[in-house]
Amino acid sequence: MKRSRTYIPTLRETPSEAVIVSHQLLLRAGFIRKLGNGLFNYLPLGLRTFRKVEQIIREEMDATGSLECRAGVFAPGELWKETNRWSIMGDGLLKMKNRLGQDLVASPTNEESFTAMLRNELSSYKDYPLSVYHINTKYRDEIRPRYGLMRTREFTMKDAYTFHTNDECLDKAYQGFGTAYEKVFHRCGLNAIRVKADSGAIGGDNSEEFMVESHIGDGTLILCSKCDYAANDEKASCEVVPYTEIPETKEKCEKLKTPDVRTIEELADFLHTSPKAFIKTLIYRVIDSSVLEGDFVAVCIRGDLEVNEVKLTGVLKASEVELASNYDVEEITGTVVGFAGPVGLKKAPVLVDKSVMLMHDAVTGALEKDYHYVHVEPNRDFTPDMVYDVRLVKDGDICTQCGGALYSKKGIEVGHIFKLGTKYSESMNMTYLDENGEKHYPTMGCYGIGVDRTVATIIEENHDKDGIIWPMTVTPYHVGIVPLQYEGAMKEAADKLYDELTARGIEVLLDDRVERPGVKFKDMDLIGLPIRLVISDAKLPSVEFKFRGEKDITDMPIDTVVDHTVKRVQDELKRYMPQ
Ligand SMILES: Nc1ncnc2c1ncn2[C@@H]1O[C@H](COP(=O)(O)OP(=O)(O)O)[C@@H](O)[C@H]1O
Ligand SMILES: [Mg+2]
Ligand SMILES: [Zn+2]
Repeated sequence: MKRSRTYIPTLRETPSEAVIVSHQLLLRAGFIRKLGNGLFNYLPLGLRTFRKVEQIIREEMDATGSLECRAGVFAPGELWKETNRWSIMGDGLLKMKNRLGQDLVASPTNEESFTAMLRNELSSYKDYPLSVYHINTKYRDEIRPRYGLMRTREFTMKDAYTFHTNDECLDKAYQGFGTAYEKVFHRCGLNAIRVKADSGAIGGDNSEEFMVESHIGDGTLILCSKCDYAANDEKASCEVVPYTEIPETKEKCEKLKTPDVRTIEELADFLHTSPKAFIKTLIYRVIDSSVLEGDFVAVCIRGDLEVNEVKLTGVLKASEVELASNYDVEEITGTVVGFAGPVGLKKAPVLVDKSVMLMHDAVTGALEKDYHYVHVEPNRDFTPDMVYDVRLVKDGDICTQCGGALYSKKGIEVGHIFKLGTKYSESMNMTYLDENGEKHYPTMGCYGIGVDRTVATIIEENHDKDGIIWPMTVTPYHVGIVPLQYEGAMKEAADKLYDELTARGIEVLLDDRVERPGVKFKDMDLIGLPIRLVISDAKLPSVEFKFRGEKDITDMPIDTVVDHTVKRVQDELKRYMPQ
């Protein structure tokens, strides 16, 4: 491609709305433009990279045996009512009515569409298993789209769905997708870590995310310093170790006046003890729980720990939990906020974190203003209604696999695989007949990769102060040719190189503009093509070969530079192929 025939509107200045590197560089290098909040258009260069990422994903999906289909972007609201996600998904689900007053959704994901499509087709056990996927537009009405392509409202996702008659078969498919995802990210030049994850509103028990470590990531990974344990913080668990400095007490539970102390720290000072001696009690409002009778639960946890609301939502099989309002707290505890505790609490069931059951001689709110109980022993002074692991794991906690120390890192979620079980087949009444003519619900899996987010993540991982450094596999062009001036002998040499490389299957961008060399070099570095060939009158018949991201510039005779370039492109492409 000749630069003058395409459209690459590079920018000198960094647009002020872009705070992360990938967003800045995508705009500056002329890959994308913003259309509206959370809405982006791709320009020619951006689309080339986008298509390459898409193609890598497609090839690896095809290699698993999954069949490419294409579900529509819009789906009848009725389908989403069948699974109840019409209400559960909240405002993230964009709903609309057509002229007949019929409900539609802009698909944020396509479990409903694919289950609806196949429920009347896969009626015999002989039709199973089936694996289908598509790469298509999604819409999520994100409250705060941000970071350019990282979190948008409209984006492209590859989503795959598998249907099985038994769990072993599902497990095999799930593992197959896991391996395929590792290959996809490797081919994109990304080091993605596979972490245990929560399955969220989508349901099911088993799920893993593929995360790329990055300080701008929205997710937190919990990793073990000694073994391969990796989970996202919503899912992570740790060894529950007793706090041994406080032994069991024989003293009776006693009510103590604690005037004007509110925070756990103040109380610890007042009583000359540690926050670890305090049983913190939080009142939560719980929405749509299939475990609780009422709408509230009191959650107790050791004073130095935090509640993991995702885990709490999970153990209560709820759609959502939120801290209760002050009014509700006062109603339930019978006193002002700040004196909740499990001893004598009647108006809400008590759920305690496992950490609490190992505590001794504890302190807790006495359900009365300015009073606390001391010498509290769990199981002696109160009996919890439920004991679960609902704590947020933090740096320094102990690994359940090996006893090593856990630590946390920020990460970007680029892909996610789930075992769904029969959640969708049951709610949408998809059944098949087995060998004996008996009816069953098929079990399902689903698997997603964000294409746009992957593009952005590649840039986060591969850039320097001058611009993008594309891995050969996803670069818009393999080679950039820069004649200092596109005229005379330099033009001849540039055209010759261009033709020979193109004939050998290399994608070339030739900067044929009338521009100062400095401008052309800056632009080439900014858009990040892996190989740059510079042609200057003074050096002919030699050409300068430079690999983006490497310092060395090599002068090469024009007769050999083509072979050398072709070989380097092929070597690089091979480097990213999974073994
Ligand atoms: N708002 C978004 N913008 C860009 N990509 C997204 C967005 N939401 C999700 N994705 C991509 O789609 C993949 C699958 O999404 P999913 O796991 O269903 O989303 P989430 O974890 O946000 O609920 C994610 O791993 C991510 O790569
Ligand atoms: Mg996810
Ligand atoms: Zn470990």
